[in-house]
Parts: sequence; C-alpha cells; structure tokens
Amino acid sequence: MKILVTGGLGFIGSHTVVELQNKGYEVVIIDNCSNSSPDVIKGICEITGKDLVFEKFDLREKDKVQEFFKRHNDIEGVIHFAASKAVGESVEKPLLYYENNLSTLVYILQQLADKASASFIFSSSCTVYGQADELPITENAPVKTAESPYGNTKQIGEEIIRDTCKVHPALKAIALRYFNPIGAHPSAEIGELPIGVPQNLIPFITQTAIGLREQLSVFGDDYPTSDGTCIRDYIHVVDLAKAHVVALQRLLEGKNASNYEVFNVGTGTGSSVLEVIQSFEKVSKEKLNYKIVERREGDITAAYADTTKANNELGWKAKSSLDDSLTSAWKWEQKVRS
Ligand code: UD1
Repeated sequence: MKILVTGGLGFIGSHTVVELQNKGYEVVIIDNCSNSSPDVIKGICEITGKDLVFEKFDLREKDKVQEFFKRHNDIEGVIHFAASKAVGESVEKPLLYYENNLSTLVYILQQLADKASASFIFSSSCTVYGQADELPITENAPVKTAESPYGNTKQIGEEIIRDTCKVHPALKAIALRYFNPIGAHPSAEIGELPIGVPQNLIPFITQTAIGLREQLSVFGDDYPTSDGTCIRDYIHVVDLAKAHVVALQRLLEGKNASNYEVFNVGTGTGSSVLEVIQSFEKVSKEKLNYKIVERREGDITAAYADTTKANNELGWKAKSSLDDSLTSAWKWEQKVRS
C-alpha cells in the first residue's frame, strides 16, 4: 500500500518513514530540502534495507502537486509533515509561514477531497493549547490565542481540515498534537539536524556537550514549578513516529470514530529543564556547562499531555524514558560530529 510522506526527509518525517517501511508500507516522499538533505535517504535505507521513491519539489507549486497526484493515483494515505517550524522566524516572516504551512495544506486536501476514500494525518502541536488552565492537558482543553504566526498556522491548519472533512465524508483525517519530540533513531543513522544555532533545548544541550556551543542558557528559574524551571513533555521521536503509523492504520481500517479526530501525542510526564540536564549528564557522563539567564519571551510555564485518548483509542503508548531519549540524542550528536 502506497503512502505519501511530505517532509519525509525531516526529523520526525524520516523516523516515520522508517516505521512505515517496517510495517510493509511503500513510501513516496516529497521534500523541498529547505531544512533537510537527500543524504537522509541513505540513513533510512541503512536501517530498513528498503527502497523508497523521492521527489524533490516545493508543495507551494500547485501545478506540480496536481501533476504528482495524477501520476500517483494509487496513494491511499498521506502524512503531511512539510512545514516551517521556527517560532522566531515566523514572527519576522508571517506571510512566508502562512504561505508555506497553509497553501500547501490546501493544495493537498484539494487532491484528496474528491477521492473515493483518502486518509490524512496532520502534524499539529501542543502549542495550540498555549498555557493550559489544567494539567495534564486533554484534547478537550480550549485552543488559546496563538502566540506566534507558526502556532497560528497549526490552529488554522486544524480548522481547514475539520471544515473540509465536514463536507467530504470520504476524507478521513487525524491531527496529532505533538508535545516536545526529541532523540534520534537508536541506530544513529538518522536524527535531528538543526541548521545554525539550535532554538530547542535538546540539540542545544548536545551541541554544548560536544563543544560546538560554549554554554547552555537556561531560560529562567523563577517559574512556579518545583525547581523554578519550565516543564515540558519530552517524547522520543521513534515513539512519535509509531503514533503516526497507528493513526494511519486506524483510518485505513475504518476504525475512526468520526472522519476528523485529534490526539495528543506525548508521554504524559512533565520534566523540568534542570531534570533534563541531570538526565543528560547521567547518561552521557559529561558535565554540562550551563547558566541560568532571564526568561525567554513567549515561554509557557508547564505543558504535559493527558495521553488517555491515544492510549485507549489508538492502542499506543510512549515506551521510551527521558534517559533513553537523551541517550539516543547523544549517540546521534557524537556520530554527526565524528
Ligand atoms: C518550542 C516552540 C513551540 C514548538 C516547539 C517545537 C517556542 C516558544 N515554542 O517549544 O511552539 O512547537 O518548540 O519543537 O519557541 N530552553 C532553555 N534553553 C535553551 C532552549 C530551551 O532553557 O537554549 C528551555 C525553554 O525555556 C523551555 C524548554 O527548554 O522551557 C524547551 O524549549 P524548546 O525546546 O524550545 O521547546 P518549547 O519552547 O516547548
């Protein structure tokens, strides 16, 4: 069965391609390589020993999207990762984010909407909840006003899919709201490759430990949490990748409760920044150079998932611990720099 993975050479996309191939799916990737490299294909093939089809183009080119679906009219499912994801950049370049993240979504849905049947998985984010009033966060928590154009594209993206599904009953879709994806494949054949200075915590930690960055700044220790640093739900990227496969299977097998569903994908456990550092130091046996600095604007205090819905309805549960995730992230960093 043929599945299209857009953004399949990116961090979460590449790990999902591996899990799809492991389950016997035939994978076609579209990626414009704006934040990834065709070399990732080697890593994927090294792990799975299977072939894949790769087409390099930009999904903003509507003609190419149309022409692609004409050639591949046997695609039964689409997992749509391709999007821009830097919060700060989205504030600087809102139109780029609305074009990249929303026009591409519309062009793909236009191709799927009138098919006899189609299954669609969307990369959403826990950012849609903002600072939730109650923790852990369930899918029923209200969507808060977005803090950035990036966050807004995830909210609007979900609305576009929901509205489309309402009038196209043969289209089935699931939005997965990711918490904080980290780690790398345990083989260290694929992982996260941030361009320039990493904005996210884990690549900044591993790059500091390897000597690429001098010091990690911990953004604030005066939050109302047990040690004063922010709390997040860090999920191993392989667990997250597996959630995509079970969500897709649910749609392909018609086990969905309605034709548009939303699931949180996290571990259910919150960890503070200092707990992450401790865990990293334990598994890497490296002393991390860090200092506490001012809060980062726009950071929320705490977010972690209630995963009951995904556990019960998808039959999926994150298996890796924070230590496992950081072990794999460190192994990947060492391999990339060797
Ligand atoms: C960030 C984005 C979020 C996006 C997600 C994608 C912001 C405000 N939010 O989430 O919209 O969906 O990435 O992965 O950018 N930290 C440090 N020092 C650092 C980096 C981070 O102390 O150098 C802290 C942060 O303050 C935060 C935690 O580490 O408490 C995690 O930060 P990060 O990895 O950037 O993720 P989020 O902010 O949760």
